[in-house]
Amino acid sequence: MDKTFISTAIDYVNAFPHIGHALEKIFADVFARRERLLGKEVFFLSGTDENSLKNVRAAENAGVSVGEFVDRNTEKFFELKKVFNLSYDDFIKTTEERHALGAQKLWHACEKDIFKKIYSGLYCVGCEAFYKEDELKDGCCPIHLTKPEFVEEENYFFRLSKYQDYLKDLIEKEKIKIIPQSRKNEILAFINRGLEDICVSRSSERARGWGIDVPGDSSQKIWVWFDALSNYITALNFGKGGEKFENWWQNNNKKIHVVGKDIIKFHAVYWPAMLYSAGLNMPDIIFAHGFLTVDGQKMSKTIGNVINPFELAEKYEVDGIRYFFLAEFPTAEDGDFTYEKFENRYNADLANGIGNLFERVFSMILKYGVENIKDAGVDEAIADLYEQTEKSYSEKMANFQFYEALKDVLLFAGAMDKYINDKKPWSLLEDKSEETKKILNGLIFSLEKIIFWLKPFMPAKMDKAENYLKNLGGQKEKLNLFPRIQ
Ligand code: MSP
Repeated sequence: MDKTFISTAIDYVNAFPHIGHALEKIFADVFARRERLLGKEVFFLSGTDENSLKNVRAAENAGVSVGEFVDRNTEKFFELKKVFNLSYDDFIKTTEERHALGAQKLWHACEKDIFKKIYSGLYCVGCEAFYKEDELKDGCCPIHLTKPEFVEEENYFFRLSKYQDYLKDLIEKEKIKIIPQSRKNEILAFINRGLEDICVSRSSERARGWGIDVPGDSSQKIWVWFDALSNYITALNFGKGGEKFENWWQNNNKKIHVVGKDIIKFHAVYWPAMLYSAGLNMPDIIFAHGFLTVDGQKMSKTIGNVINPFELAEKYEVDGIRYFFLAEFPTAEDGDFTYEKFENRYNADLANGIGNLFERVFSMILKYGVENIKDAGVDEAIADLYEQTEKSYSEKMANFQFYEALKDVLLFAGAMDKYINDKKPWSLLEDKSEETKKILNGLIFSLEKIIFWLKPFMPAKMDKAENYLKNLGGQKEKLNLFPRIQ
């Protein structure tokens, strides 16, 4: 059976989740659901990154123990699953035993490329990474715009430089496919500037004792990125070894990482190098999405524009929110959220668009009699348009182009509206000719297709529509799938 392994990034739990975190999980969920609808076996993984220094600092600020702090916040991240109807098959926390075991096993497997040296550098705790002077912007981290800390320590290093040519070939020849192309170019440029060995541990003292011990040296903790990246295999019980790991990682050529554009380097350069050093197989696809902004600005506690995903889901139906995130902007680009944009799109596309089309068709069919159109066939014009749309939609879905795929569906729905206006089936409700039956049956056919296409995006709503359609003859009330937001 065809299978797909798909993962999200695992989130730092230094604060509660914001809607940007939810966005990424929804992207991955849409893909996972689509694969399942295509009959594939899917393993969908998410989780939390708990061993970072920034979690330690945040716990200190909150005046609670790190363990307690991390547990409390992780619970909130896990809650996103239920609230946003995310279909994870597993959720890994990096404080779990299976994770520590696997991370240490991976370290062992890479040991020929790991060496110790005294080092000094500029560390951004926000990124949990060292920066070179020339990578900084006015002396600050280009992402967090804060001054990195000077760190001088004896640490373990990983010989990344050794894999320069291997990595270049891997990305250039798309042995790992990076979506979108612009991110592939960015990674190639990064590799071509020359790869340096990377620091893969920190002193236990600097880590405040939090994190996973370097095997055989408890004075050092494994660097949080080395630790976090390994989650993709530790969740598959790499630590103990066995069937799950072999089946989903080693013997599977569709392994996909969904990550934000800010962390592509870790996934497309460091992670493949670690895997190669350990003699393990590579991921196949890395999809890097853009960022969600609020009212044109980066979400930030300081600006005070962080949108709480739970409050949002309380105010509006979740499928509407999912739809907005997917239909408002292309996945690879940054997109903006405002309440006004949300309500406008919901009303235009869902209440007036899809919802209205469903109501129009259902009310005509109910008047005509469902039993009268059975086996009536489908108009050639509708069948052709369906074929074209299906082809285009499928290609887009396979490449994470959800915005474009939804455009296809809306165009199809718009064409159906036009078809109804042209054929005026409401004037034919007394006419039991084959032609009229075909028109009405074709409309039902097209609604079934729309439901199938929209299922990955709005699973609950489409289940409801599907059930309504199945028992159409017996329906006494309107479906009212997308009530207008006033
Ligand atoms: N812990 C690391 C990832 C380790 S993966 C082995 C991390 N955590 S994070 O909490 O900072 O980010 C988690 C994911 O959320 C990343 O993919 C990041 O790009 C994404 N996002 C964070 N803010 C976001 C938005 N405002 N919009 C969209 N995605 C955002 O990095």
